[in-house]
Amino acid sequence: MDSAFQQCINPDCRATFDVSEVLTACKHCHGLLDISYDWDRIPVPSTLSEFEARWSERLQPLNLSGVWRFRELLQFAPEKQIVTIGEGQTLLQRNDRLAQLCDMKPGTLYLQYEGMNPSGSFKDNGMTAAATHAHMTGASMTACASTGNTSASLAVYAAVSGLFRCIVFIGSGRIAFGKLSQALDYGARTIQVRGDFDDALKRVRELCQKHPIYLCNSVNPFRLEGQKTIMLRVLEGLGWQVPDWILVPGGNLGNSSAFGKAFAELKQLGLIDRIPRLAVINAAGAETLNQFWNTDSLRWESGRPDPATISSRFEQMDRTDHRASTVASAIEINRPVNLIKALRALDTCNGVVRSVSDQQIIDCRAQIASAGFGCEPASGASLAGLLQLRSEGVIGRDDRVACILTGHELKDPDLTMAYHSGDPELHQKKLVPAGIHNTPLANPPVVVNNDEQEILTALGLA
Ligand code: F0G
Repeated sequence: MDSAFQQCINPDCRATFDVSEVLTACKHCHGLLDISYDWDRIPVPSTLSEFEARWSERLQPLNLSGVWRFRELLQFAPEKQIVTIGEGQTLLQRNDRLAQLCDMKPGTLYLQYEGMNPSGSFKDNGMTAAATHAHMTGASMTACASTGNTSASLAVYAAVSGLFRCIVFIGSGRIAFGKLSQALDYGARTIQVRGDFDDALKRVRELCQKHPIYLCNSVNPFRLEGQKTIMLRVLEGLGWQVPDWILVPGGNLGNSSAFGKAFAELKQLGLIDRIPRLAVINAAGAETLNQFWNTDSLRWESGRPDPATISSRFEQMDRTDHRASTVASAIEINRPVNLIKALRALDTCNGVVRSVSDQQIIDCRAQIASAGFGCEPASGASLAGLLQLRSEGVIGRDDRVACILTGHELKDPDLTMAYHSGDPELHQKKLVPAGIHNTPLANPPVVVNNDEQEILTALGLA
């Protein structure tokens, strides 16, 4: 695969490495790595609609996959070594009810429902690519730190393929049981580190550097190649038209980084003629990117973002032992490892960053569910961000918008129940997070005796 190579994103370095090497940072300057391609040597279709034709060949596993259907755009592996479990068969759904909620015109608001992936989150798009590279390089043991979804996804790929063992590191704080139960069920060796996600990720990165363990977090550049295809499917869902906005929750910033790279490459290849704007939405309790972007005015600066601004904020976090805290446990992250790539994506896509409160997140999650799409709290941030950007007038009433729903509702049923039931016991068990007082869309079960009259009364039919 000499048409693909790994390349440092630091413009003062730009070192390249073969795809057969297992790296999660540049060997020279420790910068983040991209997968780059010599496009002249890859037979990329001349129009995007040629990818669509592959839907008709769904018995071919690479065409069934919503990732590998676009394989020319991530051509780093021999086809024989691709590890796929039919990921990425996800849909873009128009939702006029939510458009109305946002005071937008019918036909403007779309939901990209990544909860339909085999492990129930968008992570499978990236994990199929990481698992493929792990297989290519002969890894026998893989690992990740996770707020839950990455571990569930890696555990699925390890279990289905049987190619490698899998260790997952989780912090001791919040982790939704739907996700933890997946990792345990699929046989991942699960290590719960006393500390938070940022601590667990730091630890697993060190371990993977010292031992022959293949790291599957989003510092692994191959993972982001798979996640590019989420944007391909958004374009496909719009008949290959480019939307005006993409809204995505931001945690470790792998998705935002991958989306920016996807659009930059599609533009370079002449497959699209313009790039949509990107809105990355943080939870207010985990808003490092928002602070860098909006408070510190940190920018990509052609690959040279100000190092003093970055270190001073991180040092301040260390001094005050600042910990992320949000009901959206998936994005409870303080030190986004893909920060620099996300700055690049924001630059590519003329992006914006916002943060939204836990109350907004859970209300928007419930709004999305009431429109028929179950998603987990972190995904609610996309809609909450849209409402905010609409109220500011940044996103217009006619703009065409795709909100990425990153994970399935059943990942975190405790929170959904807590929201709906209003059961004081759930408050006592601290399942309803502090700071959440209003549950305007609560739909509690009505308890009645097994008596027809009582039931009819409850139904308003008596
Ligand atoms: N939404 C969900 C449901 C997630 O699980 C995550 C990340 C994100 C959004 C944020 O995406 O990191 O690309 O900015 N979850 C990781 C995990 C960190 O361990 O499962 P990002």
